[in-house]
Amino acid sequence: PPEWRRRLVVIGCGYLGATHAACMAELGHEVLGVEVDPARLAALQAGRVPFHEPGLAELLARHVASGRLRFTDSYAEAGAFGDVHFVCVGTPQRGDSLGADTSHVEAAVASLAPHLDRPALVVGKSTVPVGTAASLAATLAALSPAPDEVDLAWSPEFLREGFAIADTLRPDRVVVGVASERAEKLLRELYAPQVDAGCPLVVTDLATAELVKVAANAFLATKISFVNAVSEVCEAAGADVVDLAEALGHDARIGHRFLRAGIGFGGGCLPKDIRAFVHRAGELGVEDTMSFLRQVDAINQRQRQRVVQLSTALLGGSVTRTRIAVWGAAFKPDSDDVRDSPALSIAGRLHLRGATVTVHDPAAGGTARAAYPTLTYADSPLEACRDADLLLHLTEWSDYREVDVAAVGRVVRRKQLLDGRNALDAALWREHGFTVRGMGRRP
Ligand code: UGA
Repeated sequence: PPEWRRRLVVIGCGYLGATHAACMAELGHEVLGVEVDPARLAALQAGRVPFHEPGLAELLARHVASGRLRFTDSYAEAGAFGDVHFVCVGTPQRGDSLGADTSHVEAAVASLAPHLDRPALVVGKSTVPVGTAASLAATLAALSPAPDEVDLAWSPEFLREGFAIADTLRPDRVVVGVASERAEKLLRELYAPQVDAGCPLVVTDLATAELVKVAANAFLATKISFVNAVSEVCEAAGADVVDLAEALGHDARIGHRFLRAGIGFGGGCLPKDIRAFVHRAGELGVEDTMSFLRQVDAINQRQRQRVVQLSTALLGGSVTRTRIAVWGAAFKPDSDDVRDSPALSIAGRLHLRGATVTVHDPAAGGTARAAYPTLTYADSPLEACRDADLLLHLTEWSDYREVDVAAVGRVVRRKQLLDGRNALDAALWREHGFTVRGMGRRP
């Protein structure tokens, strides 16, 4: 095999790990994924992806079939196999504080370390509180039988769900935090395909690399909450946030992306990362400087409540015994992920207030049903609208822009649309007799 081909281990095969493993196999490496969840492991070993990510199923199945990608639950096998070990396990919000739970990362490194008895590089990719890498380096040094030959590096991942493969193969930038030249050399070699194609590479220390990731997500969250806060001013002043954001975005220093006003951000990353960032800043004695992120979080929560209030107003002051159709359950389109989904949180609140809420989502019906079993689910956008007094558009799947508006008009009881993502063609809906409200838009 060519000299650049490596034996790579990927520990934790969720969104991040499964994508990273399949993409590394695609780049020509031999890859072993470690997954301790038996159901997820069985699916991956059979070449199946246990979640929705465009293109990943094909890529993974192809490399499992070719033998370049395998999966195991054995750390001993991983230690014997790998030159480089990527740690891709989750760091969810803790149950007892707003901080991140790093126990899975710690357990992964502690389980692997005793099997590292020859030169190896452990590369953290999980999103962690700054300082975690330094403590993991100490764990490696204490538990590895060959501490002088084992290095730790940190290389945060910026992939978005729905674009995971493209973001991995053609990232905006690669960041590597290293504590040795040996680690830097190996990582430069591993990321050569991306860097040779023009991707910027930032080489820095461990703590900076850890911080880049949370700072990036905090900035994105701040941008969204900024425009959402302004959207409320727009409503109060009779202005329009869509025109406003377009105008703002033409300033190259601001840019158009992440300026879409709506029901706010959700998912497994942004909400928990900003909370963990404030929490960590507090532990470091600099909480005040990050306290604005509490506001970012509060503005984001407020958007959900605004939709509930506006819906109640549109239904005449009470939602009891009304029927509400909800389009979208995933936290964003092209995903079946409902973690901290603003759409489902709104649907759940309206249900609790006495409405019959019928939800449709092109991909997240199953995960939504598991998380919110008391809601009603429909198999098509039209079926969700039957006899509805109000239609809420909460996740902007392209499917919903293609629905026949006249047909929706024929099945609903009252022609009312609240577009929580400002993504449907309001003029078209109005032509069909609908009252249309958006977020921060003129009524
Ligand atoms: C986010 C980051 O974008 C990735 O760079 C990062 O790697 C990832 O978290 C992570 O930490 O793993 P993701 O959670 O997949 O990626 O989703 P985004 O595309 O960032 O969307 C987040 C939320 O913001 C969604 O609920 C979306 O609807 C909302 N959003 C996004 C808005 O409300 N307005 C916008 O203009 C953009």
